Amino acid sequence: MRKSIMCLATLGAMTLHLACGSTSDPVAGEPGAPLPGLTDAQLARFAEGHAMFNKQFTQEEGLGPLLNEARCSSCHDLPTSGGSGVEFVFKATHFDGETCDLLVREGGDNVQQRATELAREHGFFREEYPPSSTGRTKVSGPSLYGLGLVDAIAEETLLALEDPDDADGNGISGRAGRTVDGRVGRFGRKADVATLFEFIEGALRAEMGLTTYLHPVEETINGVPVPPEIDPAPDPEIDERALGALTDYVRFLAPPVRAIPDDPAVRDTMERGESVFREIGCAGCHVPSMETGPNDIAALDRKTIDLYSDFLLHDLGPAFADVCGPGATPSEYRTASLMSLRSRIEYFHDDRAGTLRSAILTHGGEAMAVRDNFARLSASAQLDLIRFLSSL
Ligand code: HEC
Ligand code: HEC
Repeated sequence: MRKSIMCLATLGAMTLHLACGSTSDPVAGEPGAPLPGLTDAQLARFAEGHAMFNKQFTQEEGLGPLLNEARCSSCHDLPTSGGSGVEFVFKATHFDGETCDLLVREGGDNVQQRATELAREHGFFREEYPPSSTGRTKVSGPSLYGLGLVDAIAEETLLALEDPDDADGNGISGRAGRTVDGRVGRFGRKADVATLFEFIEGALRAEMGLTTYLHPVEETINGVPVPPEIDPAPDPEIDERALGALTDYVRFLAPPVRAIPDDPAVRDTMERGESVFREIGCAGCHVPSMETGPNDIAALDRKTIDLYSDFLLHDLGPAFADVCGPGATPSEYRTASLMSLRSRIEYFHDDRAGTLRSAILTHGGEAMAVRDNFARLSASAQLDLIRFLSSL
């Protein structure tokens, strides 16, 4: 059943081809639940990492001296642990028209908003925006459900979706993001981190001020080294076991099941909306499904995942230009995954749109033609599309 639906939808659209060949039903669970099919040992890791994700760290345990929040779940808890958040992270970078400078010598692109009590006693309250920054923004915490499956997608699968010179002439020219050291990136709104593990290791340091066994030195405060008396905890503050468990918790979070109402009339509307989504070109960037590559963990091995993203960067036009990334200009952002869209209250990296309708109409740049297709739809077709989006 599912297979035939997916195959019909691929006609003429190269980017949807991957889903067509897939035979498995998409993996899903209740929001916050572990992936189906985990072993007892993996479930134990999930539980251990869950406790750590929700743990409120103290300065005695190494929190800070600078931080944004004291626990991961402060920014990822809607509607459950591992979900999205309403807290913002403040970012600043320098872009000279060609290269992106993350301003490490001035304290880095993540401008920490808080400090521990000990740091405050010594006169450090927060980081200031780096003086050389040319772009600034606030970024809200995305949902982490299903990210283990995203991590398990083969790099070639993402690269096959690239179309940097718009060879197919549809106005959409996605390209893969890059890490600081030039590898293909997929995590972060600028697609600037290659693996889930690396993202989480960085989040511990940037969001919570916790050093890890891989980076045992505290970041500076706007370029000034941290005086030892304001961070007495011995480094590294996070060991290999803790980082591994935390990563496995996020790795094993299931993508959320879709909210499909019982009322057949509403279901019809949603199905019509899904067709509209493909017909007007949303799926050109929000690629409905992908399959993971071969994986040692059975629950991640060659699974279909309904992501509604190509995980590539797209230029959304001058209204989006704020911070840059190692492989992204200020106006390029990674296609937001629409998986668990219903847990979002506001939309885009900086929550600039308050409704789904305004989110669609806010797309510019490469998405301009598709946005205009939406604007030309009848009122009822627009509503069908929005009902479909609300089920994700
Ligand atoms: C102060 C709020 C905040 C805290 C605390 C926080 N995060 Fe995040 N998280 C964010 C924001 C904002 C982003 C998007 C960042 C970006 O695009 O570069 C993000 C992104 C992520 C991503 C990548 C999501 C994606 O789609 O690419 C992962 C994984 C993640 N966080 C895990 C964690 C973990 C684990 C912790 C605890 C160590 C944590 N976060 C703590 C705000 C936070
Ligand atoms: C050219 C590529 C492209 C096309 C075409 C496109 N989008 Fe997007 N969309 C994006 C990018 C990139 C973002 C994220 C931008 C950001 O983070 O600020 C996004 C974000 C969104 C969001 C916000 C999600 C969130 O969690 O914040 C929604 C909803 C959305 N798109 C729906 C649609 C719909 C519906 C269509 C078709 C009418 C569409 N998009 C067409 C690239 C595209």
